[in-house]
Order: sequence, then C-alpha cells, then structure tokens
Amino acid sequence: MTLTEENKEFIKTHLVDRRGTDNEKWDGQRAEFGTDGLLPMWIADMEFSTPQPIKDALIARVNSGVFGYPLVPKGYYDALANWMQTRHNTEVKAEWVRFDVGVVNALYRMVAWLTKPGEPVVIMQPVYYPFMKAIENQGRVVVSADLVQNDSGWHIDFDALEKAFARPDVHVTILCSPHNPVGRIWTATELAQVLALADKYQVLVISDEIHQDFEIGGPRFTSTLSIDNGRYQGNLIVLNAASKTFNLASLRNAHIIIPDEARRADYDAFATAHNAVAGTLLGQVATQAGYEHGGPWLTQLIQVIRHNYGELQAAFAAGAPDVRLSALEGTYLSFVDLGAYMKPDAIQPFVQDQCRIAVDYGAWFSPKTATCIRMNLATDPKLVLEAADRVITALHQR
Ligand SMILES: Cc1ncc(COP(=O)(O)O)c(C=O)c1O
Repeated sequence: MTLTEENKEFIKTHLVDRRGTDNEKWDGQRAEFGTDGLLPMWIADMEFSTPQPIKDALIARVNSGVFGYPLVPKGYYDALANWMQTRHNTEVKAEWVRFDVGVVNALYRMVAWLTKPGEPVVIMQPVYYPFMKAIENQGRVVVSADLVQNDSGWHIDFDALEKAFARPDVHVTILCSPHNPVGRIWTATELAQVLALADKYQVLVISDEIHQDFEIGGPRFTSTLSIDNGRYQGNLIVLNAASKTFNLASLRNAHIIIPDEARRADYDAFATAHNAVAGTLLGQVATQAGYEHGGPWLTQLIQVIRHNYGELQAAFAAGAPDVRLSALEGTYLSFVDLGAYMKPDAIQPFVQDQCRIAVDYGAWFSPKTATCIRMNLATDPKLVLEAADRVITALHQR
C-alpha cells in the first residue's frame, strides 16, 4: 500500500525522535541486550505522538492544578461503550468495568484471584511472554496448547486445546485476541469454538484484547463478549485498554470487564481484600479523549502500519525470499522467521551483533519459535526499511 498525501502529513506531524527522552525502547537497551545503539524494533510502543485531542485533554486537566481523589465520570463509560459499540459491535455496560494500572498487572491479578498455587493455567504458545510470567512467577503452572503453523498460517490446535481443558485440574485459560506475536485476528467462528470448549469443560476464559483496534489485514476483530450474542459472557473476563491504540502505556489505565454479576462481586471482594489499585486519573482523561476523538488519528496510523508491513514483505521477497513473515491481520508486530537461513543458536548473534537491531526474540514466546524475531511496525517507514536492509545485507554476507 502506498502512502497517501494524508498519510505523509500524519507521519510528518506525529513522528518523534525519542532518543534521549528516557524511554525503554531507545534509551534502555543496555539492560535487556547488554549494549546501546541498536535499531529499536522491539517493545510494543510507537514513535508517533498521541492524538492532539488527547494532548489537549491532558493539558486542560493538568492546568486545573487539582489532583485529589477522582471519580470516573459517566462520560468515560459512555465513551468506552460508544467506541466498543460503533467500532466492534460490542456492548460494554458501565457496571461491568473495573480498572487496573495495566493489562499485565490485571493478568497477574486474575491469576492470583482465580487460581491457587500449583494449579495449571492453559495458554496457546507462542504467546506474549508476560502470560507465562504471570502464571509461573506466582507459582502456577503453564499448560500450553501450542498454536500450529501450516502453509495458510497460524491456527488454534483445537484437539490440543480440548485435551488441556479436559484435565480435571484446569479451571482457567488466557486467550490472546488478536494474538501477539503471530498477528492473527481470530475469526468469530474460531472464537466461538474456543468458548464452546471452555463452556463444555467449565474453564473460565480471560481474554486479553488489548490489540483489538489494530485491524491491519484479514477479518474484522470480534470481541469474545459478543460471540453468539453474548452467550458466553457468564464464563468470561475481558482485559483491554486504550494504551496500545493511542500510545499511552505509561499513563497506566486498563479495563477488567466482568459481565457476570456474581463473578464481579467475587472480584470486588478479592480486590478489597488485597487493596487493589485502580487506574490513574490522567490515564482515564487520555483514554476518554481518545475514544471520543481519536478515530481519525487511528485511521491514519493503521494505514501507515499496513504500508510498513507491505514494505517489509516486499523487501524480503526481493532480497531474502526464504524469510517467512506471518500474516499481519491484527497488532502492529510482525513475526518474522529466519529459520531457512540459520539455526536457533545463531539468531541472537546475527540480529544483535551483525544487524545491530533490537527485537523481541521468538524464543521469548515459545521454545519452538526460536528462529523467529518480532519486529514492531508502528514506527517511521524509513526505520522499517533500514531494518529489512540490515537483515538482507547481513544474510548475504553469511
Ligand atoms: C497481548 C498484550 N497484553 C498486554 C500488553 C501490555 O499491556 P500493559 O502495558 O497495559 O500492561 C501487551 C503489550 O505489548 C500485549 O501485547
């Protein structure tokens, strides 16, 4: 997809040079990679500044000068409900919503609330590695019904999933929808099948839908909340946020959506007992403004990500045709397999020392995807081309 004049204007007005601005992606590489100055294609945040209406709302709130204990206003819940309804055809009632300071924080909290130490939690690897950490760091056990890859892409292994759900000690699963890192937007049919299986074996589904707004190519996103007209809501908790959508991760505001009344009461008792934190005032101000006014900005951003993915595909097709890219349906993270060119052990020295690129390594998501790297495409198209060029040139030098 070629960039339109509007896309170019969007890039010109929103692209920021983040070097030296105390951010992890550019300035915090030494802690993760032992070196600085890598081309940063890792971590899921962007080089684009947040929509102007969000900045305006934050500035207005800061200028009020008063930061006492806040209330979440009705307008916030209306904005969230309206966004979910108009973009995703999904109802979210205000009374279903609880807050946390991040989706990962919420994941930890869900595991602590819903399982006991030693209990298994089912996930589908390769998957966003904090899923494993939320389970294992709290003394629970990962059971993976691994995704499978064939010529048509990544798929859920429903036999493996049913086998895992059928275990008498399994009560909870965490779903990643859209899926990081493989980039799938699960279809309504696939999601209905997962939810029906969970229902059959009385396994509670926690669905991390933080990437819901990135419909890059492929099916539209369907929230698990609206599958079969909400039939599975009793057995479901959805985690989402505006933080990926509008590049707000540091403002720390995320939703825990619990449609079932009894389960919500149970969560409230757990949260009270553990004095759980809620979101943050400025995170909520930004989220509300984004849901109210951020749509046009997001449209531009998605077109730029689509363009970047097309450029990455074209560069590899021309220069290193055996590099295998997962289809980018959802998320802005491309999962790139270098396995045709090298063994797992060679990946890190190749990417880090030869190409001088910072990526999220496939091995972080599953031991079985150790020849993959995850590249962040929500950035300057020039950086995407530079990264592709470095990989292709280094492959030719091997
Ligand atoms: C699937 C998924 N969940 C959660 C997060 C992070 O959420 P938060 O920053 O709200 O903790 C990410 C970030 O990349 C993600 O990909």
